[in-house]
Amino acid sequence: MPATLIAVHTMKGGSGKSTITTILASYLRYVKQKRVLVVDADDPQYSISGIRENELSLYERLIKLTESGHTPKALGAMANTPFEKAMTERLRFNVEHQISPADFYPVLRASATTLRQVDFSADVDFDYVFLDLGGVYDTHIVDMLAKCHLVLVPFTTQNIDIRHSTDYCLMLLDSINEGSLRQTTQIRCLWNKYKFFYDKKAQLIEETIGSYFAEIDTPVAFLKARLQDADSGFDQNKMLTTLSNPVAVEGGKYANTVVELANEILVLCEPAMTTQPA
Ligand SMILES: Nc1ncnc2c1ncn2[C@@H]1O[C@H](COP(=O)(O)OP(=O)(O)OP(=O)(O)O)[C@@H](O)[C@H]1O
Ligand SMILES: [Mg+2]
Repeated sequence: MPATLIAVHTMKGGSGKSTITTILASYLRYVKQKRVLVVDADDPQYSISGIRENELSLYERLIKLTESGHTPKALGAMANTPFEKAMTERLRFNVEHQISPADFYPVLRASATTLRQVDFSADVDFDYVFLDLGGVYDTHIVDMLAKCHLVLVPFTTQNIDIRHSTDYCLMLLDSINEGSLRQTTQIRCLWNKYKFFYDKKAQLIEETIGSYFAEIDTPVAFLKARLQDADSGFDQNKMLTTLSNPVAVEGGKYANTVVELANEILVLCEPAMTTQPA
């Protein structure tokens, strides 16, 4: 069966495209054991593939230390940063579950040309392919979005991000009206870095976005799961590609919403796995 293609996309930088991509990809791979590919097409910053390289280099050093007699637990006690701590947790989890680096999902760095040439939606080696398309919106990107089963649009509670993501939704609406984006593409908005006191305003924004799309009978709703604002000392840990957050950090509001979000995505993608776009 061909892969289910998912893009987390909006034009505003810093709204969490890459973070949400890696959180979902990691959860589906390491917790749900799905076959996952991440295509990092965010040229030139390639943040996900950069993080993967850093993770692998630390991981290899940690493996060497275990070979010279250190236990993963002892390495955890020696860790100085949240990143090191998360990686030692990964190692501990992997040793217990007999997971090797060969089980990490691949992160493919793709240029705009590769993106145009390869039909990732036809890939039968993966259950899910995530696209990090960066912050551009042009005809090539719309062509890619048209191949996706699901386009997730992140919103944060910052006014500037709300304006940009709302504009982005209106651009999607124009593309649907022009016929360059299929009406059957599932579009869902998603709160990221969510702060609980925002509930009233969030409801208003959700209604407004819903009303834009109601006129063309395209149900564009917000996902129920709101990805919480995790504390700032946690930064790189949120984006690791070799572990899933709920594995490293059990419980807590942030980790719980990761689980809720991933499960909502799985349900949304179920019909797509039997009905592939033309
Ligand atoms: N839920 C969250 N809680 C706290 N911080 C977050 C959350 N999601 C993302 N961040 C942080 O916000 C910053 C921007 O996130 P990210 O790099 O994922 O955004 P992006 O949309 O991919 O940006 P760019 O357009 O530069 O590619 C990062 O420092 C990331 O760690
Ligand atoms: Mg990014």
